Amino acid sequence: DEAPGRYKVRDLSLAEAGRHQIRLAEHEMPGLMALRAEYGDAQPLAGARIAGSLHMTVQTAVLIETLTALGAEVRWASCNIFSTQDEAAAAIAVGPHGTPSDPQGVPVFAWKGETLEEYWDCTEQILVWPGSDDSEHAGPNMILDDGGDATLLVHMGLQYERAGAVPADTRPGEPDHADETNVVRSVLRRSLDADPLRWTTIAQQIEGVTEETTTGVHRLYQLAEEGTLLFPAINVNDSVTKSKFDNKYGIRHSLPDGINRATDVLMGGKVAFVAGYGDVGKGAAEAFRGQGARVVVSEIDPICALQAAMDGYQVVRIEDVLGEADFFITTTGNRDVITAAHMAAMKDKAVVGNIGHFDNEIDIAGLAALPGVTRTEIKPQVHEWTFTDGSDDAAAGRSIIVLSEGRLLNLGNATGHPSFVMSNSFANQVIGQIELWADAARPAEERTYAREVYRLPKRLDEKVARLHLDALGVRLTELSERQADYLGISVDGPYKPEHYRY
Ligand code: NAI
Repeated sequence: DEAPGRYKVRDLSLAEAGRHQIRLAEHEMPGLMALRAEYGDAQPLAGARIAGSLHMTVQTAVLIETLTALGAEVRWASCNIFSTQDEAAAAIAVGPHGTPSDPQGVPVFAWKGETLEEYWDCTEQILVWPGSDDSEHAGPNMILDDGGDATLLVHMGLQYERAGAVPADTRPGEPDHADETNVVRSVLRRSLDADPLRWTTIAQQIEGVTEETTTGVHRLYQLAEEGTLLFPAINVNDSVTKSKFDNKYGIRHSLPDGINRATDVLMGGKVAFVAGYGDVGKGAAEAFRGQGARVVVSEIDPICALQAAMDGYQVVRIEDVLGEADFFITTTGNRDVITAAHMAAMKDKAVVGNIGHFDNEIDIAGLAALPGVTRTEIKPQVHEWTFTDGSDDAAAGRSIIVLSEGRLLNLGNATGHPSFVMSNSFANQVIGQIELWADAARPAEERTYAREVYRLPKRLDEKVARLHLDALGVRLTELSERQADYLGISVDGPYKPEHYRY
């Protein structure tokens, strides 16, 4: 269902189902609900026009309605072509007080199974506010990002606008060849034809971005180092209550969920290979171990490799286990971790999936280009790739199962992280938005945030954790004044120095 400029979702009639799920999720998201109670009257986000690019799930719906409860206007798109839960998107478009025939909700442009062209069109939709002829209202003044695609579009749009043209499409063999780059360029070409100053107008109104994930944060630090970051950024990912919870415990829940829903293949007794032993890799390895799998890990960083070894995992190179492992999962946020040659040498019916942010960890294009390989859709987001051709004798007749075409499988094959974990991450997002928006209202010389990347102060990190203790029946021990003096900290925190690693 579609109303141009207002929403584009799979089916508005799914809204009721979505609303029930949102209601149950609210119960599991005490951090967000506490922020609604604390700030509902003060409306700290009044005047904020937030462009959100983040998986359009039930949990995100609770985030969106928290932002609007605090006074923000919001437009939303998903940050992955497979991650939308259509009933959540419908419920957001319809809103708590609308009906499918009279939708009154937040503008949302997201459905499960977008093409890349549709995906980037949706991302553009959240950046072009209605009434865009009126320079007062030409776009958002805040971005809430996951992976940095909304931020990227603004930066690329402005760069091409200043250069006076969008570069020609790249071709196979050229250094930055990627079909997705060409898709972004075609979206920008069309948008610059429609309005040659669009990105200048949009970029100058944006007061800041809060970024959800490791990969998006990495992009932001690169822009800041080059001196090309256009607005202040808050790195939500590196709040302790984000990366040490969402990336680890969220993955511990949603990785096996994705594998089970996709394949129903037993993990117990099998060999599971996990590439990367950062926060996501730690959660992935623990999930497999919890299912009784024998887990092997690869790392490039000696510290993480040693951690994996001390945690009891054998640390290997992927080449060591190609014929042995039953599952191959990438968690690195790096590119080219599983190559086509690796896949051709894998054990028959090995399950291959990525849970890092982008799909370049696994070379699906290279797999498709192998001579004689065929692809069979088992069901959406589950494909069997069979090596039929005798040109690679070792592989002939064998097949592997690839999840979500190499895109993050917990959101493609299942519904992502559970609400309770996301309440922690999203409480950081809301607090980050409030921080940047309040700062933008101050006179320039009194502002805290420049065009750099910042983390939230530790007292706010501790606050997010505190908001989740009651729901789990946690009884926190209180420091006495004497103990606090002894440790040299305040009774109310922060309890740890900045450099503490948890
Ligand atoms: P991290 O930086 O803590 O961990 C990544 C690890 O991979 C590092 O220890 C690094 O040394 C290692 N690594 C890099 N290249 C490698 C290679 N070629 N082989 C083996 N290991 C290699 O990052 P984090 O927080 O664990 O995030 C990883 C990815 O997962 C990012 O893309 C992030 O955006 C994404 N993510 C996905 C989530 C989901 O729901 N699917 C949730 C949270 C993060």
